[in-house]
Amino acid sequence: NTSSIPAGKTRNILHKMEEQGKNCIIFYGSQTGTAEDYASRLAKEGKSRFGLETMVADLEEYDFDNLDTIPNDKVVFFVLATYGEGEPTDNAVDFYGFITNEDVNFTQGNEPPLGNLNYVAFGLGNNTYEHYNSMVRNVDKALQKLGAHRIGDAGEGDDGAGTMEEDFLAWKEPMWTALAEKMGLEEREAVYDPVFSIVEREDLTKESPEVYLGEPNKMHLDGTAKGPFNAHNPYIAPIAQSYELFSAKDRNCIHMDIDISASNLNYQTGDHIAIWPTNPGDEVDRFMNVLGLSDKRHTVVSVKALEATAKVPFPTPTTYDAIVRYHMEICAPVSRQFLAQLAAFAPDAESKAEMTKLGAEKDYFHEKISVNHLNVARVLDIVGKGQKWSNIPFSAFIEGINKLQPRYYSISSSSLEQPKKISITAVVESAQLPGRDDPFRGVATNYLLALKQKQNGDPEPSPFGLTYEITGPRNKYDGIHVPVHVRHSNFKLPSDPTKPIICIGPGTGVAPMRGFIRERLQQAKNGVKVGKTLLFFGCRNSTEDFMYKDEWEEAKQVLGDNFELITAFSREGPKKVYVQHRLKERAVEINQLLEQKAYFYVCGDAAHMAREVNTVLGHIISEQRGIPEAKAEEIVKSMRSTNQYQEDVWS
Ligand code: FAD
Ligand code: 2AM
Repeated sequence: NTSSIPAGKTRNILHKMEEQGKNCIIFYGSQTGTAEDYASRLAKEGKSRFGLETMVADLEEYDFDNLDTIPNDKVVFFVLATYGEGEPTDNAVDFYGFITNEDVNFTQGNEPPLGNLNYVAFGLGNNTYEHYNSMVRNVDKALQKLGAHRIGDAGEGDDGAGTMEEDFLAWKEPMWTALAEKMGLEEREAVYDPVFSIVEREDLTKESPEVYLGEPNKMHLDGTAKGPFNAHNPYIAPIAQSYELFSAKDRNCIHMDIDISASNLNYQTGDHIAIWPTNPGDEVDRFMNVLGLSDKRHTVVSVKALEATAKVPFPTPTTYDAIVRYHMEICAPVSRQFLAQLAAFAPDAESKAEMTKLGAEKDYFHEKISVNHLNVARVLDIVGKGQKWSNIPFSAFIEGINKLQPRYYSISSSSLEQPKKISITAVVESAQLPGRDDPFRGVATNYLLALKQKQNGDPEPSPFGLTYEITGPRNKYDGIHVPVHVRHSNFKLPSDPTKPIICIGPGTGVAPMRGFIRERLQQAKNGVKVGKTLLFFGCRNSTEDFMYKDEWEEAKQVLGDNFELITAFSREGPKKVYVQHRLKERAVEINQLLEQKAYFYVCGDAAHMAREVNTVLGHIISEQRGIPEAKAEEIVKSMRSTNQYQEDVWS
């Protein structure tokens, strides 16, 4: 019964659409915000190009048993990310359970139940995972079965191949054509129609207590931040210690211990921690400068949504500087579609033509922008030849640039050994690219490096570090604190510590394996009997990037024959040696351990390593047990489904 629920709070989709005068609702199932961003872009494009009355909606906020009441002059979009091992995102769990339920019931009891429903579907997935885009595939199948009418194809974006954006662009054009035809819409000349109003506040300064300077919410502003700490509310944690595990030529690797003792946060060995980064000062400066905002960076602004269903993605009043520094993913490569939109605001005809070309020609864009990982400010600088792009309304950036996302790290400590201190192990991302003078640098890892340098008072910041303004007047972005939250994972040790485990963790993939091994060390110190523990670790060579070398020696001393480290140094000999080669060399033992129900863990690079390890394991089982490859693959699959084979991989 929704009648008692105040307006604006209804969980009834049709009521909400009618109340807001909408004919198009765009649902998103999003974990890290990407699906949500795509949903917003579709909403905006549908409105500006076709005059659709669009609204974006979080799946979590609605009931679905009245999907059958939506008449066929309306349309529902589903923009759905697939998460982990083919799971729905947290906010889509209920919807997914509902729509895929064999006995799904709707309010009207029509036959077929969703015969009136028009829908559009796009999925975000990663082809390095087995259940590629399973969310959109399964939801599409379920909707078809219920008689709903899909408009256009069910799109699939592939993060694994790095083609998400182009997959999206290629999918949406025919979809819009089909949708326009179905709903009798006329395409019109897209004019920029801001979703947000920005009012500069002369009555406030950045010192005013109500002005947000990076604080993610009101509690942080008031200095009363308390849990639960989660993806909406980070804990600003003190850094207990940080140091470099190795620093070689152009590569650094950071170990950081984060103190959660003053919070109610907790974690279990194998969980993930999210780091909320800050953008580097030099990129914030570049952005301000090219927009002609340098003089106004500390001007206080209030940002309001001009539509009841749009949300301002950060708290206000705030300053231009704080928005750009703490809330916008300004360092990410700019999207082709966004450049096409910005062409209208070019400072001269030549820049306008170039922006239009970049926006329209996929290959040209790839060659100029993608391979050089150019962010929006860099492109504007280059295309405009140093001119200011002051005509671009700031709201276009709030709409067109993604929200700055926390980055996840596999926790590398054991909660048994240090329940209130979380370790991370991160390689600092940096790469020399063909078309730029300075290297590309990862946002979060260079932020961690800058924190490490600040915390240790490093006399000469590493040349790889960037200038970060980590001191805020009120917040604790002071270089010895870092905003975090914990995400629980299914990557877990067997509950029986005597079970053997085989850990495959090359490079930073060693992170959760260190957690596991430290856990077993602590168990042994507590007098608990622990099972055989094999660690396959790979790095370039024994003198450059051999992480935690001393700790493995300690493990050997405490665990004796129950611990073995097997190394693969890829650049020491004439041929590359990888962890999977070492695994193959130990085929007999690996098979025996698996027959004793050893748990098998893989962490690190999803694109190549994890796949190859999976294949090699199949070969080992096939050869050792004298069974066909196909049968061995089935065994590996069933090991996965029973959690005997666990992966913690990323690309
Ligand atoms: P960003 O600014 O996000 O830039 C990285 C992006 O830039 C890449 O996604 C890629 O698209 C692009 N890119 C990278 N190299 C190039 C290049 N040469 N040319 C052009 N583009 C390029 N990392 C760890 O170090 N340790 C961990 O334990 C760890 N655990 C993880 C666990 C999970 C569950 C996940 C999802 C990821 C994990 N990661 C880990 C990766 C981590 O989350 C970050 O993605 C990584 O640290 C880079 O973040 P960044 O902000 O520095 O880089
Ligand atoms: P390489 O860089 O010399 O090729 C950690 O990054 C280690 O993983 C390095 O020794 C790296 O070797 C290695 N590595 C690279 N590609 C791999 C793959 N496909 N499988 C396993 N290890 C790999």
